[in-house]
This record gives sequence, structure tokens and C-alpha cells, in this order.
Amino acid sequence: MKISLAKDQWEQLSVDVLAVFVAGTKKPQDNSVVQALDEVLEGALAHAIRAESFKGETGSSLSMVANAQVKFNRVLLVGMGTGEVTRKRCLEFAVLAARAATDCASIGVAVPDMDEAGLEGVATGLMLGAYRYTRYLTGDRVPKQSLGKASVVVLGGAKPTKGLRDAVARGQAIGESANVARDLVNMPPNDLNAPALAVECQQACRGNGIQCKVYDKKAIERLGMPLFLAVNRGSHEEPRLVHMTYKPTGKKKVPKVVFVGKGLTFDSGGLCLKPPGAMMDMKMDMAGAAVTLGVVLAAARIGVPVEVHAIIASTDNMTGPDAYRPGDVFPTRKGMTVEIVNTDAEGRLVLADALAYASELGPDYIIDHATLTGACMVALGRFRAGLFANDDELRAAYATAADNIGENVWPLPLDEELREDLRSQIADIKHTGSRFGGTITAALFLKEFIGEDIKWAHMDIAGPAFLESNHRTLSKGATGFGVMTAVEFLRSL
Ligand code: BES
Ligand code: MN
Ligand code: ZN
Repeated sequence: MKISLAKDQWEQLSVDVLAVFVAGTKKPQDNSVVQALDEVLEGALAHAIRAESFKGETGSSLSMVANAQVKFNRVLLVGMGTGEVTRKRCLEFAVLAARAATDCASIGVAVPDMDEAGLEGVATGLMLGAYRYTRYLTGDRVPKQSLGKASVVVLGGAKPTKGLRDAVARGQAIGESANVARDLVNMPPNDLNAPALAVECQQACRGNGIQCKVYDKKAIERLGMPLFLAVNRGSHEEPRLVHMTYKPTGKKKVPKVVFVGKGLTFDSGGLCLKPPGAMMDMKMDMAGAAVTLGVVLAAARIGVPVEVHAIIASTDNMTGPDAYRPGDVFPTRKGMTVEIVNTDAEGRLVLADALAYASELGPDYIIDHATLTGACMVALGRFRAGLFANDDELRAAYATAADNIGENVWPLPLDEELREDLRSQIADIKHTGSRFGGTITAALFLKEFIGEDIKWAHMDIAGPAFLESNHRTLSKGATGFGVMTAVEFLRSL
């Protein structure tokens, strides 16, 4: 999408839809653009506002056809409510505007005077709201057009400066990176297996200044990742470990952050097979990997002053003749042995070796993303991620980053009392505990593989990674949840 920025001249816009951000008030008709529009529309807009009781509340909108007096076909009023005009709220308004225009080719967006942060939010929101996944549609189902052009008009503000334009470009890069992640999560599992995911990573890194190293099965064997390979045993496809690196230019010493993502391109549950209902949508079990790619892409594109590593451990979890079994015991990269209990708790096994590998890079922080447990959804609902950290400051910083950009997370405890659940008779540790506190015991298992003195946070995104219907800024299907928070965190360092 091409996003342009201009001042005041909304009347000149030749677009399919003109969206106007309208502050919440008892009389939205008082808005100067609404007044001017109402005049050319001969009172029809004021009438619609009354008829629909539109008051500009957050999340509300009003759409109507225009007339031949203007160059746009439709008018859309987007309610801004009465709160402060922050980046995350601008993002939300822009998502609504773009969503309402997905069947159009162009949109004009008239926004009140706002700072760089606000415009960055608008740009990200436009990208997220305009997203559609159409790759597998044919014939009549192929959309005639897609939102390719957005003209943002700032009312009453300064002439667009380089600073404002850069903010738009940044916002767009973040939205596009999240959309790359969404494309991968939406892709069906027959077309996106681990080798294909690795190729997608290589292609995404190319031209963006990101180094991308891919390890195939032999290379992973040589590296020594027995738990990761155990999960792959039931599969017909090879696993892949992808290690992407973005290093900012310049000699200044910068923080080093390693992101790690669970990349299960399909989770059947393995021999502990999932029932059919629970297996549907398990193509999304690589959302953590997709987020991890999205983060390094965004970091490179906006040029954060942080060395960012992105590590993706990818396989599917299948039931082939050599599949791993409950009762099996495997060594690990870290050294201790693990007794397998339930082959459907595969994510933590794949992550364990990847986290040990990440620790060896000597980072300041490790952040992992994983659609790890149904228990996290039981605890927090579908729209919120569980946030764990072995460091109070990191947990607080990550929660603040999420809050700043409007992704919902909630801190959960790494409760040492539950560590007993992971005691094994035969091995050093087993990989699942009881049903109770299932999301916590999963996180406790991961914690065992983090190197000493490394600050680590774990995001269980099982709920918000993939949704059945739109929810606020999160759209149906893959959401890209986590990319924006991670980028915000990197920028806060
Ligand atoms: N990928 C699932 C978790 C999941 C469930 C993600 C639903 C998104 C939606 C994970 O591998 C899994 O199967 N976890 C088990 C763990 C259990 C066997 C200890 C679960 O949550 O039931
Ligand atoms: Mn599973
Ligand atoms: Zn899984």
C-alpha cells in the first residue's frame, strides 16, 4: 500500500472512501469536516448521524454513500471517543477505517492534528486493517481490487515534515512485518512445512539487511538438539532451524536480544492424538515462529539500535512409524535427560533445545513466543497472551510495551511450588505436570533451559495468535499478535 501524507486538502481527494476521524461528543455535527461534508451532501450526513445516533464513541462508525458533488463514493465517520489521542488509539481507528474499505482501491483518511506517534499508529493500523488472505481463492472469490492507496490528510496541523513522513514509513514497516507473519500463519499446512517455512524466512530477509542461516536435519543433528529431533521423528518432513541476525551499523555497543519462536507447522498431537475439533487450525502452531520473523524484519526495517537474533525451530508433530512415544527418555542440548509424558506437549521440547542454543549466544535478553498451552486460554481468554519472566524489571518493561501499543498481555507467575510436578522417576525431569497450572508448568519447563544470569521472557500466545472473528484491532484468522509489543520493547531499550 502506498500511504501519502498531506495537510488540510481533504476536499481534493479522489478516493473510493473518505474516512473522517471524529472526536466523541454529543454533537459530532460540530466537527468542521463533518459540517463541510454535510453541506455538500445537502444535509444527508447530519441526518444519518441523527438516525444512527452516531456520537463518535470509540469503536463506532457510520458509513454512507456520497453524491456527485464530491470525488469520493462513500463517507465513513470513525468515532475517536473522548480519551487522549495516543498511538494505540489512532492505530485502532485506522484499523476500523481500513477494514471498512477492504473492498475498495483507495481511501482518504482525515485526521485531527497529531504528533509523530499518532501518525505512526495510523499507518500501522491501515496496514493491519487492509490485510486479507486471498492466496487460495479462485474465480469469483478473487477480490476485484485491494486497498492499494491511502491518503492521510492532517487537519489544521503543520505542513508534513520529514519527521512526520518518517513516522508514517515506520508505522507502515511495522504493520507490513506483522502482515508477513500473518501470511505465514494463514498458509495451509500442506504448503507450509518446515523446509518451506525456512525458505520463506530466507526470502523475507533478503534485501532487508538480515543474515539468515538455515540448518537442515543433518546440521541439527550435528548441532545437537535431541529434543527437537524427537518431536520430528513422527514426521515425513525434515525439521529446520533458522537463525536470523540483524546487526545495526556503527561501532557503538548495543544490547543483544534473541527471539525464539515455536514453529510447529502442524500439531496433530503425535501419538497422543488430538481429537478432530482440537486439530482444526493447528496450522497456526507456528505463530511464534512467524512473530519471531516479523520482529526481526520490523527491527531491521526501522533500524532499531539493538542486535536482534531471531531463532525459529520448525517441524510438524505427526504420528509416523518412528514417532516418539510417552515413556521415551531423551538427552537434551543442555545436558539433562527428559522423560516424555504426553507427545502433544511438543512445543516445549522443540523450544527447550532452541532456548539452550539461544543462551549460548550470550544475549542480554531472550524472548520466546509460542502457541504453547490451551491452559493459557483457559486462564486468560482468547484475546490475551500470558507473560512470564525470570526478571521483574523485564516483565514490567514487556508489559508496558504491550500496553503502549495496545496488545493485551497479563503477567503469570513462574511458581516454584509447581516445579515438583515435573519430577520424574526415571529421568532428570519430565515435560508435563498435572492439568492444574498447565501454562505455568510449561513455562517452568522452558526456564530449565535458559542460561544462568540471562533475562528471559516467555509469551504464551495460544489465544490471540489466531481468531475465529474480528476482535477490536485483531482480525479474523492470523493476527500477528506479539510483533508490535516486541518492536516496542526493542525501542525502549
Ligand atoms: N499447540 C498446542 C497448544 C494450543 C492449543 C495452541 C490450542 C493453540 C490453541 C500445544 O502443543 C498443546 O497441544 N498443548 C497441550 C499440552 C498438554 C498436553 C500438557 C494442551 O494445551 O492441551
Ligand atoms: Mn501439542
Ligand atoms: Zn503445539
